[in-house]
Amino acid sequence: MDDSTIISSVRVTLLTILLAFWIYVYAQSRQKDESNKVFGEENGCQPIQKRLLFKWPLALTSSNGNTMFYMGKTFQVKLLGKVGYFTTDPRNLEAILLTRFEDFELGSRRQGLFPMIGEGIFTQDGHPWKHSREILRRQFVRIQYQDLKVFESPINDLLDGLMSSSGIVDLQPFFFRFTLATTTSLIFGEPFAGLDSTDHEIFSKNFDYCSLTSAMRLRLADWCWIYSPWKFKKSCQMVKRYATHYVNHAPKDKDENGEEAASERHPFILDLYKELQDPVVVHYLLVRHPVALERLRQEIRLYTQIPVNVRVASKTTFIPRGGGPDGLSPLLLTKGTGIGFSPYHMHRHKDLYGDDANEFRPERWEGPELKSIGWGFMPFHGGPRICLGKDFALTEASYGIVRILQCFPCLHLPPGHSTEPSGLVKQDLTLVVSSAEGCKVMLS
Ligand code: HEM
Repeated sequence: MDDSTIISSVRVTLLTILLAFWIYVYAQSRQKDESNKVFGEENGCQPIQKRLLFKWPLALTSSNGNTMFYMGKTFQVKLLGKVGYFTTDPRNLEAILLTRFEDFELGSRRQGLFPMIGEGIFTQDGHPWKHSREILRRQFVRIQYQDLKVFESPINDLLDGLMSSSGIVDLQPFFFRFTLATTTSLIFGEPFAGLDSTDHEIFSKNFDYCSLTSAMRLRLADWCWIYSPWKFKKSCQMVKRYATHYVNHAPKDKDENGEEAASERHPFILDLYKELQDPVVVHYLLVRHPVALERLRQEIRLYTQIPVNVRVASKTTFIPRGGGPDGLSPLLLTKGTGIGFSPYHMHRHKDLYGDDANEFRPERWEGPELKSIGWGFMPFHGGPRICLGKDFALTEASYGIVRILQCFPCLHLPPGHSTEPSGLVKQDLTLVVSSAEGCKVMLS
């Protein structure tokens, strides 16, 4: 056999392998399409009619704050070339978070948040998530037995700070420090552990910057790796160093003062050490949830802390609404499809909350008006992944407000400051929502 015959028979073999591979992939995808179609038909799914149109490639300019209102409750969006959906329909949220919980996972959230919070309850799915949830749940149960002790010293510090201020005061930074101290108390066992106010200030700044950058990374979804500035890496290191300080403080306390005394102060961390036998993993599991708890139910409705969220179908599934001409039929979601949802927008829907949905009117909760709101109100989500800190957060907010009002019964708006209609209040969005203009009050 001469050389040219060998080359051409190699070519034919390669071509045959390539063709066989292509036929295999094609047949697999046809089979998948077919079984998805059958699954859709069995569940009464209809194609979606509402599609978000966009002028620029990759849909980069396709949405703004009002898109969710004029597009209706469920619509399709093509983001970075991928088809996904967006919903604010309570029935869909119930399906995603509760009835079909097992069919969804966090998707690219893990990659987006990993540099900042590493391995932990906010970045895990499946078995590791269940494990973290159980460990954290134990700590929340433990804290229930301590009544209001955990809030005592942080609220006294806040009141001391207010008493030494005068004139117009912005409460927002005070609330931020208050929630930082209570959450570190809850998780690390003590608020300060030998750190001074400058250390906490540095941590807060780095934490805010990391939150802002992480929020941008989350919007880039699978492409988050393209946005990882050097400053972000540095800030993530500072945040981790802060957590590590607390993690190392607990065993030091145990060595110096004995197990019983140290367990009183750091039950959660010492429990984690026992559980994991690995101090490196311990600090990754310690998560701090960024919240400012200055207002209650009505405020939580209008300015829900985690306004927008995403899940990805871990297998082919459906949501109960969004398909068909009226959007009331089930909608098929094939494996890997992303679905965004916005409690923030849902909480402002006029068909759920009436024409004054944007108004701050706490009385709406008093009568029968919202009796059947169900999944139409879910600031803490619901289902197996419901916020673990819900009761803690609500107690913290009510206790904080009562103590402040006892000390400053005459809190009022500074002269010349008007209240913006709540639909127009400027807000900052990182991983959570906060007021862009702070919370300015006159103390006397
Ligand atoms: C007003 C205050 C708060 C609001 C509105 C809120 C809201 C939420 C929401 C919506 C989630 C679900 C996130 C998701 O599954 O994608 C969540 C999860 C969680 N929250 Fe909160 N939260 C608040 C305060 C707190 C506090 C103070 C803590 C702890 C000190 C906390 C601890 C947690 C934890 C550990 C999870 C993860 C649960 C899991 O994935 O299994 N939260 N929170």
